[in-house]
Amino acid sequence: MFSKAIVRTPARSFINGLRSADSGSPDYEKALDQHAAYVHALENCGLDVTVLDADEQFPDSTFIEDTALLTRSAAVIASPGADSRKGEVHEIREALTDFYSNIESIEPPGTVDGGDVMMVGSYFYIGLSKRTNADGANLLLSILNRYGMTGSTVPLKSFLHLKSGVSYIENNNLVITGEFINAPEFEHFNHIAVDEAEGYAANCVWINGTVLVASGYPRIRAKIESAGYDTIALDVSEFEKLDGGLSCLSLRF
Ligand code: GLY
Repeated sequence: MFSKAIVRTPARSFINGLRSADSGSPDYEKALDQHAAYVHALENCGLDVTVLDADEQFPDSTFIEDTALLTRSAAVIASPGADSRKGEVHEIREALTDFYSNIESIEPPGTVDGGDVMMVGSYFYIGLSKRTNADGANLLLSILNRYGMTGSTVPLKSFLHLKSGVSYIENNNLVITGEFINAPEFEHFNHIAVDEAEGYAANCVWINGTVLVASGYPRIRAKIESAGYDTIALDVSEFEKLDGGLSCLSLRF
């Protein structure tokens, strides 16, 4: 169960954030509204939400999940793989001192984006991606081991982040799409498979029995509900334009 979340308000510079394809420029005012609705949904799921101020220096800083991994026993400050995002970690360390006494860090040349780390109880899957390298993954595994947790790596082919294509929603259930459907690492889970047309919605968030899903993807929402979950659909169109999903917008712990 989670009791808290940390989010960061989108900065005006958000419209210049990193993107892999030109899906149109995000609308800043709309992004603010969508972000406010997201915070409201987290609160409705029972979380105490800390909202950090917008940071104009870093256009992608609202995608706060990439800056840290929060576990039950320790926080690990990530080491973002994109040059324009490296500086995002300084402020997050400060924010986390209010909640954690054990704060560890991934150090260069290791890189880890939080979006590449999927928690399944005390086991962590770490995607090896354009953003997360083997040095970073090994460092993260050694930190996790020190705190009695374990994990393993998963190579990525086309997704930006591991959690762009797979989300753990508890009870051994994975919402999964694309290259991960046949990945041996995930074969022992129940698959709630997402077809390619709804692939974006594979990034969803379990919070205390409710699953937040991106609106506009009705088939996957129906499948998640059929598996016994309540869902909340949220419009995150402006974040999707920058390759960001629902999980990217918060740190939950
Ligand atoms: N725009 C989100 C990212 O590329 O990190």
